[in-house]
Amino acid sequence: MRGILLAGGSGTRLLPLTATHSKQLLPVYDKPLVYYPLSVLMLAGMREILVITNTHHLESFRRLLGDGSQLGLDLQYAVQDEPRGIAEALIIGRDFAGDEDLCLILGDNIFYGQGLPATLSGAAATVDGCTVFGYPVSDPERYGVAVLGADGELLDIVEKPSVPPSNTAITGLYMYSNDALSYAEKISPSPRGELEISDVNRLLVAEGRGRIIQLGRGNAWIDAGTHDSLLEASQYVQVLQKRQGMQIACLEETAFRMGYIGMGQLVELAGRLSPGSMYGRHVQSLIRT
Ligand code: G1P
Repeated sequence: MRGILLAGGSGTRLLPLTATHSKQLLPVYDKPLVYYPLSVLMLAGMREILVITNTHHLESFRRLLGDGSQLGLDLQYAVQDEPRGIAEALIIGRDFAGDEDLCLILGDNIFYGQGLPATLSGAAATVDGCTVFGYPVSDPERYGVAVLGADGELLDIVEKPSVPPSNTAITGLYMYSNDALSYAEKISPSPRGELEISDVNRLLVAEGRGRIIQLGRGNAWIDAGTHDSLLEASQYVQVLQKRQGMQIACLEETAFRMGYIGMGQLVELAGRLSPGSMYGRHVQSLIRT
């Protein structure tokens, strides 16, 4: 399975922060927001990843992440200049996918939880149609929301409903089998002028090829697309990291633990980071262990 990290959009909900900066490069405590979804793809086993951003911020992403080889990844870049919707990522990424299945993650979504890597790699191995990931929230009207059957099966998805059919939000992480990618070309723009990922998923669900995996209460999911959620994400990361003395979404550590890089490469990466930062000290501490 190959990964797409969608870091496009104009970030209007975060203005004026995003007047000059990409939303996905804003800080979440001690690292750029994009590190969090990128680490999720890495933990799910993906090494070939397409980063979609706009022309304006492309160079910044390249400067931050390069071609990914330092992390044992193959990172490619593509551009989405107009906010034409999440589903357009599947069209932009069609050639990149080749014959492989795809996992799409939104660049402002943060996932964290102990069982997550196993859940995701298990889902990746069995996807047929689409697999979405549900999460219970108190404000479902902000999201795509699942309509669930008596046995918890996915019956439909409603995008930002004023009367939510459940409290299960569809998170910004989606898996597609290769043949399902063409469904993105079957939909039309919504009233907000976007190709909605929920519309792609609804088509597949209607054909009985949509599955939902519930991310249980042991997981955290934050869509950091508003000022409040961005701050909450920072506070969440700060509390956990300080309490546990661990790092969330440390890319060097993830690459090393996943076996994408060896000790020699880790030593080199650690040398590029300053011991003056907690992040740098953490990467350097891995060398001794
Ligand atoms: C998008 C999707 C929505 C999903 C959400 C997750 O919303 O349209 O279905 O629940 O991402 O972050 P948007 O960020 O475009 O409002």
